[in-house]
Amino acid sequence: MGTLAAAIPATTTASRHAGGRRHRRRGSVAVRCSSAADERQALFSRIAPVYDHLNDVLSLGQHRTWKRICVSWSMAKRGDRVLDLCCGSGDLAFLLSQKVGLDGEVMGVDFSGQQLQTAASRQDQRWKACYKNIKWIEGDALDLPFTDRYFDAVTVGYGLRNVVDRPKAMREILRVLKPGSRASVLDFNKSSSFFTASLQSWAIDNVVVPLASSYGLTEEYKYLKSSISQYLTGEELEKLAKEAGFSSAKHYELGGGLMGNLVATR
Ligand SMILES: C[S@@+](CC[C@H](N)C(=O)[O-])C[C@H]1O[C@@H](n2cnc3c(N)ncnc32)[C@H](O)[C@@H]1O
Repeated sequence: MGTLAAAIPATTTASRHAGGRRHRRRGSVAVRCSSAADERQALFSRIAPVYDHLNDVLSLGQHRTWKRICVSWSMAKRGDRVLDLCCGSGDLAFLLSQKVGLDGEVMGVDFSGQQLQTAASRQDQRWKACYKNIKWIEGDALDLPFTDRYFDAVTVGYGLRNVVDRPKAMREILRVLKPGSRASVLDFNKSSSFFTASLQSWAIDNVVVPLASSYGLTEEYKYLKSSISQYLTGEELEKLAKEAGFSSAKHYELGGGLMGNLVATR
């Protein structure tokens, strides 16, 4: 069985979580949730069983290419210790694992236990030796259980859009990155082009939601559209990263402008 909530240098303590908000513990990691975050956590747990299949069908397999680009732009290299934040079922973590090799270390962090269970069972089913370097950790992007300057690179795939406090998440990413290291953040692009935004909206209404409905997940995938409209444009993401303290930040459009990837250097 893949490693879940493995022993890690957890800086998170019960006292750090004092303040009335509910939190859960798994292993040495506490996960606290506001009610909005609770809803999202429950949503991602509900879609976990079909998440990978839907990604393949809905993107016609293209998400694999975008994820490869995201990992490549993180500049993770052999022997590095890297974090895949909001790792879900682990696609980016598996790609990172190949980059850093057996000398390196990958931590996949997510607040959905179900997503992590899927990730761990995928790890068990895969044969590449390097995948042994991945640990799955149940944790909150807003309160990462790692010491400062711990990672050589951080990736986030389709996660930043879903966290309830993006400035705080960016500050946490900055905190755990070593100086000079990169965060590579892939997500849907909130396009300022009328054509791209209309195409994206049409595809969600007419392809994504109907298909998700056949799995009984209508409301879960309707959330996708509202989350993109409440997300940030490329320019706003660059500003967010700089305000968090990154020394440079550049956003690149992918997939004809339907996706975007922020590269931010500490
Ligand atoms: C759309 S999925 C992306 C999964 C994976 N990175 C991928 O690209 O396929 C978003 C993930 O973010 C996680 N997530 C959202 N908010 C989080 C938070 N505050 N802390 C940890 N994980 C969070 C969800 O549980 C979910 O698994």
